[in-house]
Amino acid sequence: MLSIGVDIGGTKIAAGVVDENGRIIAGAKRRTPAQDPELLEQAVADAVRELREQHPVVAIGIGAAGFVDADRRTVVFAANLAWRDRALADHVEALVGLPVVVENDANAAGWAEFRFGPAAEADTMLMMTVGTGLGGAIVLDGQLVRGAGGFAGEIAHMTAVPDGQWCGCGNRGCLEQYTSGTAMVRSARAAAATGDPLLEPLLAAAGGDANGIDGPLITRMAREGDPGAQRHLTEIGDWLGRGAASISALLDPEIIVIGGGVSAAGDLLLDPARAGYARTLTARTHRTVAPFAQASMGNEAGMIGAADLARHR
Ligand code: BGC
Ligand code: NA
Ligand code: ZN
Repeated sequence: MLSIGVDIGGTKIAAGVVDENGRIIAGAKRRTPAQDPELLEQAVADAVRELREQHPVVAIGIGAAGFVDADRRTVVFAANLAWRDRALADHVEALVGLPVVVENDANAAGWAEFRFGPAAEADTMLMMTVGTGLGGAIVLDGQLVRGAGGFAGEIAHMTAVPDGQWCGCGNRGCLEQYTSGTAMVRSARAAAATGDPLLEPLLAAAGGDANGIDGPLITRMAREGDPGAQRHLTEIGDWLGRGAASISALLDPEIIVIGGGVSAAGDLLLDPARAGYARTLTARTHRTVAPFAQASMGNEAGMIGAADLARHR
């Protein structure tokens, strides 16, 4: 049985036909019309139509970066996007004539890593996706936790710093403001703008303009050994680990999977996360400290997970 998974990113929509083993057998891409929800739905439908011409699919799963209702049809709210009570599944179903389910983007990616990735042997998993935002997926005893309204696993909006940085959700001090690609870039730009000598190489690589510093540049320079770039990956890695330790106090996961764009930095992000976790985990000397694993499906996790969840709806 084949299904289509769709990942709606800030710049592109990636759709793929996915088989029961989580393999992508065909793909289609469209640009994201980010400002217009209706055009966005049309672009999704268009990519789906292209794929359906060649492949007999039974359902569509869409990963969306926001709060998705328990029926998995409507994006109720998004901290970093314009969606408010958007009936995404209804609209795409009407355009393509196939059953559609909408999943939170991190839930979809986490489900893929749980089914086919580093958590395949685990029963209990925490997945954290570090990208523009901070995504979360919780699997307990083999079940993806959705909560009463569908909004469980919104780890981005746990309070990390009382009255701290403002967040797109309307609160202050959310964890996402301290560990995400956005947080890393903000912190590096601010440091560069003060004239911090450690940031000179990064600033030079950005053409002398602090606003030219972005996530991929920080990762590349950190890999090349630049201490300024490494400091900013370490900073968000430490927060990631401390956040994970808080979540572990509540859920006690067997494994913690780290995905999202920034996880491409590998151990430059994961080592400080492991350290922050081990340093702050409650009862740490009397328990098994959960391993941190890098997600294995990269950019395709959301697509694969959404397709799998749609097939098993
Ligand atoms: C949103 C989540 C989303 C995450 C990653 C957060 O800001 O609240 O719904 O999963 O970003 O995209
Ligand atoms: Na989630
Ligand atoms: Zn928030």
